[in-house]
Amino acid sequence: MTRRIGILTGGGDAPGLNAVIRGFTRRAVREFGWQVVGIFDSFNGLILEPRRTQRLKDDEVRKILAWGGTILGTTNRGDPFDFPLPEGRQDLSSHLAQVLAEEKIEGLVVIGGDGTQKIALRLMQERGIPVVGVPKTIDNDLSGTDLTFGFQSAVCVATEALDRLHTTAESHERVMVLEVMGRDTGHIALHAGLSGAADVILIPEIPYDPARVAAKIQRRQRKGRCYSIVVVAEGALPAEPDGRPVAEADRSRRLRAGGGAAQILMAALEGRVDAEMRATVLGHLQRGGSPVPSDRLLATRFGAHAADLVAAGRWGRMVRIRDDHVDSIPLEQAAITRFVDPDSELVSVARQMLVELGSE
Ligand code: F6P
Repeated sequence: MTRRIGILTGGGDAPGLNAVIRGFTRRAVREFGWQVVGIFDSFNGLILEPRRTQRLKDDEVRKILAWGGTILGTTNRGDPFDFPLPEGRQDLSSHLAQVLAEEKIEGLVVIGGDGTQKIALRLMQERGIPVVGVPKTIDNDLSGTDLTFGFQSAVCVATEALDRLHTTAESHERVMVLEVMGRDTGHIALHAGLSGAADVILIPEIPYDPARVAAKIQRRQRKGRCYSIVVVAEGALPAEPDGRPVAEADRSRRLRAGGGAAQILMAALEGRVDAEMRATVLGHLQRGGSPVPSDRLLATRFGAHAADLVAAGRWGRMVRIRDDHVDSIPLEQAAITRFVDPDSELVSVARQMLVELGSE
């Protein structure tokens, strides 16, 4: 009997999802002769009625390499173990296993971030559903892999925004604050900030002192550089008065109440900086649009390797790249966050380039 393998995308989208779908499908269909079943809107396509699936053949994936988004749709509101129904949350994971059996789908390729990979692992451990994971996040903050697709595209968008902010900042002699994505980690901020010649880069891993940021802006002004460019990750916050980071439990509340990282910074600089300030929140522009070539390449390699794992029966593993070699790790190790290391070479280079990071 022809093997039938399902594929789905879960969580927030990232440029390169379609390239993974194409990479997997092409290899699965052409090389291994399987049927590939695309499942729409993450696990929801199997859980909700009518079911939404589509057989993917070479024709369906032929043109999608450079497309942004995901042809399968995605959501971060469809955990089968805690599924939101009008009558309340329910565990529909056994139902999902039954639907897979009815559809004769042998296993799933799950493309998603840490949340989705955690669900995939539970489905395998608790419901016996064979899964292979493909990591996805524009934040590039999964410790199991050196790189995730979507990151380079997001850095490109943020860097281009910085290039544009430079010219308008200089014309008006303003302080321009660019808020980029990165709720927990500052990889996008650091990479884009360095590539876009930011004067200040603030990341969640280094709680900042607003006085240091103000001092940097003033130093520039004294040298006749009457404008400054500040990049702030959406999860970056000032240190508490005693210098400690804001407690984890308090972080999101603080960010929401303050109107976001850029607003909190601008409020903290008010009265300390003699210049007009403007904030730009880049938001989902960083996730949209066509993937850059390096993301297309990485996503294609990930998709092809996912097919190899299925072919070898190596379920329960997640594809990753390490030292430019694509292989896999157990799914158990998938969801560990990789923070920016304040002692890393990249952070030192930022300091060598006289970038202010808000702390010693
Ligand atoms: O996890 C990726 C990410 O880009 C985060 O940096 C950001 O906080 C989040 O997605 C935004 O997600 P949503 O689409 O739910 O607003």
